[in-house]
Amino acid sequence: MTDDGTNTIRIDEQEIPFTAGQTIMDAALAAGIYIPHLCHYPGLSPSGNCRLCVVETGNRSVAACTTPAAAGQQIRSDTPEMNAARKAITQMLFVEGNHICPSCEKTGNCKLQAMAYHLGMLDDHFPQFYQRREIDASHPEILLDRCRCILCDLCVRASRDIDKKNVFAIAGRGTNAQLIVNTPSGKLADASIAVTDLAANICPVGAILIKEQGYQVPIGKRIFDQSTIKEIALQEHSAQQETDRDS
Ligand code: SF4
Ligand code: FES
Repeated sequence: MTDDGTNTIRIDEQEIPFTAGQTIMDAALAAGIYIPHLCHYPGLSPSGNCRLCVVETGNRSVAACTTPAAAGQQIRSDTPEMNAARKAITQMLFVEGNHICPSCEKTGNCKLQAMAYHLGMLDDHFPQFYQRREIDASHPEILLDRCRCILCDLCVRASRDIDKKNVFAIAGRGTNAQLIVNTPSGKLADASIAVTDLAANICPVGAILIKEQGYQVPIGKRIFDQSTIKEIALQEHSAQQETDRDS
């Protein structure tokens, strides 16, 4: 607790304040501390499914994005062991999907690729799955390549909670899980999704792409060519805080 009575938690060596209702992730980002994450997005309810944000508190491992901050918590996050675990998760995500960066339009804008750089990932380590899930090119403006989907659930939450359209869902479990489109045909062409929807723009990888925009921004000038994933995460958090203040 600080001198003025504010509740605090300690992340690695830093003591930071938090307010009631904040998760460890919220408090960390508000204090400028980056905890790696892929399925957390400011303004959307957390789903806790990518496990990149797992931290240790006491003798427990918890997802920072779903665990409420509690006074006196001692959290370990940026340690060699935690980052090695995150690198292994990232390597698994790479081999589960067809993340062939040089041939993907999302290269340079992809959070999975940026995470790999952040964690010093130099190879896939695990054998490739060579994923063959259905690609849906039926929509005139939006492409869905399920072979690159990391099942982060962001498009599902964005469409349901922000766009109010409920276009996507995740069906099946384990290796059979995949993203489905909530239309009788199962095709994106029959869904009410628009290019301006958050769901069409939130995908952290190249699974949902807006068509006919390829190479509008040249490689070398893309988001993660200019900024680190940590800088972008902190910017996304600040932008949401400004939106919350204005509303
Ligand atoms: Fe996440 Fe993209 Fe897959 Fe949707 S399509 S679940 S946003 S990776
Ligand atoms: Fe917490 Fe994905 S960001 S589990």
